[in-house]
Amino acid sequence: MSLNTPFPVDVVVMAAGKGTRMKSRLPKVLQRLAGVPLVQHVLNTAAQLNARSAVVITGHGADQVEPVLLAPGQALAVRCVRQEPQLGTGHAVQQAVPALADDGVVVILSGDVPLTQADTLQALIAQCGGQHLALLTIDFADPTGYGRIVRGGDGQKVQAIVEHKDATEAQRQIQEVYSGIMAVPAKLLKSWLARIDNQNVQGEYYLTDVVKLAVADGVSVVAHKIDDPLQVAGINSPVQLAELERAHQLRQAHRLMEQGVRLKDPARFDLRGQLDCAQDVEIDVNCIVEGHVSLGEGVKIGAHCVLANCTIAAGAVIHPFTHIDGEKLGVSVGEGALIGPFARLRPGAQLGAEVHIGNFVEVKNSTLAKGAKANHLAYLGDATVGERVNYGAGSITANYDGANKHRTIIEADVHIGSNCVLVAPVTIGAGGTVGGGSTITKSTEPGALSVARGKQTSIANWARPSKKK
Ligand code: UD1
Ligand code: CA
Repeated sequence: MSLNTPFPVDVVVMAAGKGTRMKSRLPKVLQRLAGVPLVQHVLNTAAQLNARSAVVITGHGADQVEPVLLAPGQALAVRCVRQEPQLGTGHAVQQAVPALADDGVVVILSGDVPLTQADTLQALIAQCGGQHLALLTIDFADPTGYGRIVRGGDGQKVQAIVEHKDATEAQRQIQEVYSGIMAVPAKLLKSWLARIDNQNVQGEYYLTDVVKLAVADGVSVVAHKIDDPLQVAGINSPVQLAELERAHQLRQAHRLMEQGVRLKDPARFDLRGQLDCAQDVEIDVNCIVEGHVSLGEGVKIGAHCVLANCTIAAGAVIHPFTHIDGEKLGVSVGEGALIGPFARLRPGAQLGAEVHIGNFVEVKNSTLAKGAKANHLAYLGDATVGERVNYGAGSITANYDGANKHRTIIEADVHIGSNCVLVAPVTIGAGGTVGGGSTITKSTEPGALSVARGKQTSIANWARPSKKK
């Protein structure tokens, strides 16, 4: 989505407010929706507009907010400007003035309004056209608390925005409200901001007063009215955050279903990141997908799975209650693999085709070649496992000596019995067998049977102690 305008676009994001009703130590704009801080949603949308820069007005919690905004990986140039104290939205944008070039159109957004769509803002910018003041508006059945769009004269042109607290009874009947989002040529914005005052019920500098000044200057004010309340919904409380999360999740779920993904229940699915699906993917209820996940053709995900930062190849089945998190290293699951139920795949698990990982098996930073199986109660960490290896129940790789991690190599066609400890670094030669209950500290030859445990002793006809009377 790229924007073709003859003028550059700069974004101002207001994020200095306190967010008292969140009752949280975390500043409101850092609360997460779909796993992403609210203000980051706003910056992501700005990046989709190909904005030249973003100026974020910080204040409350600035010490926490600014490092998030200035972290590497931001798709557009972000600057932070502090507003202290907070004297209103007009005062907030005044702080950005020195950081704004004169040749652009400024789009003003709020850090607590996360779901505005880029195409909506593009339409707003088009209405501004580099010369008008464009306001994003919406009709609300209950407009209480919002600034009202006051129209009058020929063609019912916009005359002013009147804040709820300043409005007359008649004005309070107006259902068209200002969303808090506008697009305005930088030069005009600057001239108007220099002229606003705080002569109103709240004693604040209102950004919305720029409308009167535009009208006085003969600049036309255009309202771009939308009918989707989610796009202008601001978050002030945990209840509103949860409501918007649900609405957003439902929309994402519908988008996936339109692409052919079969979600058993769109109301019980959470995507906190990006999910790419090939054809005929099925996802059962209560799954959470995080980070970047890609699912191949015909993949089936059972109920109650958490999948994060992983790639699952075609035909693989992830049974219920499996937890996969690749974090930075990623996890890959090969074609036709069977994972779970109750499996845990950690960063660096690379599983080949037709690998089986069963219940209560943990795999970390290990490669399992085609057809390898670890079906019950086992740990594979820092291991390289060959084709067709069978890894018995209760066996582990002892990969950590208290200071360093070491690798275990299990060559093709090895059978590891139950309850074995493979003390790394160690190699089990191809086709070898390790007897159940063995603790293996030395590498073994291909084809060898290795047993390393106390020899069994049996005492014939042994009488168990009996209770003294
Ligand atoms: C504002 C609009 C109102 C509109 C409503 C939509 C004004 C005067 N009014 O009202 O017309 O209907 O949004 O939600 O603009 N902020 C700062 N510094 C400040 C004050 C606010 O950064 O000094 C930030 C807040 O953190 C918030 C945003 O600006 O992100 C809007 O502030 P808020 O107090 O919610 O504005 P409203 O009074 O609700
Ligand atoms: Ca508000």
